[in-house]
Amino acid sequence: MIREGCFARVVERLNGCGGWWEVDIRTRITSKSRGNIVPLDITCDTNPAWLLRMTLDLETSRLQLLRVRPEDWEAYYPIFSAPETSQFSDLPRRPTEKRTRGFVNWMVRISQQSKGFGWMVRDRGTGVLLGCIRLNSIDKQMSAAVIGYEFGTSFWGRGYATEALVAVTKHCHEAMKLYRLEAWTVEGNPASERVLEKAGYRHEGTQRKKMVIGKQRFDTRLFGRLADD
Ligand SMILES: CC(C)(COP(=O)(O)OP(=O)(O)OC[C@H]1O[C@@H](n2cnc3c(N)ncnc32)[C@H](O)[C@@H]1OP(=O)(O)O)[C@@H](O)C(=O)NCCC(=O)NCCS
Repeated sequence: MIREGCFARVVERLNGCGGWWEVDIRTRITSKSRGNIVPLDITCDTNPAWLLRMTLDLETSRLQLLRVRPEDWEAYYPIFSAPETSQFSDLPRRPTEKRTRGFVNWMVRISQQSKGFGWMVRDRGTGVLLGCIRLNSIDKQMSAAVIGYEFGTSFWGRGYATEALVAVTKHCHEAMKLYRLEAWTVEGNPASERVLEKAGYRHEGTQRKKMVIGKQRFDTRLFGRLADD
């Protein structure tokens, strides 16, 4: 039960700084407010950038990057379930619709918990879903996160993944103040390595036979980019 003098934590969408931001606001219920919640102060973390909880929708010249919503699973299913998508990753092989819904819900959940964030990438003109890009394993103390992405096969080779990664990288370094971003590839995926290189990531090392895909073991290659690179 909410009583006077209690604190409540609400998430509010605010418009400002060129876009929509979602912030946690600690509020105190007052006698005056009754149903209306009066903002008292904003939940503060060590890094003020975390106030603006990285929920900004992004735009590039050709793309719209919209935060992932549960209902996106249906449009995403053909991309997620294509055999080419999981060929060089730890994503599930031939996922069912249920598994796709679970994966999309996971992206929503980690954003609510500030552990990650997912964007659905759409064509700005037509709204067609082209792919998905996300941050996960956000480590606030180390100011670091891991990036992953996949795009529909019919859209490969048009520079979309690079354009999306450049925008997300800039957002992570500049708005979210994440110092280190990393991504890994499985040996035999030169397209993804090229995308990373074009977005300014450097190959930092190889972990031998770390990844099991099917019954085979593969090396994984780690790429990193620092805010001052
Ligand atoms: C990796 C992936 C996202 C790339 O998407 P994309 O939209 O085609 O990427 P871009 O068009 O921005 O860039 C692709 C680059 O790779 C290059 N490339 C593609 N296939 C290649 C190959 N076999 N060898 C060398 N380079 C290759 C392209 O020529 C292009 O580079 P360029 O602009 O210098 O010519 C897409 O292939 C994909 O979704 N793959 C499956 C999921 C996946 O592997 N995700 C990454 C996990 S780490």
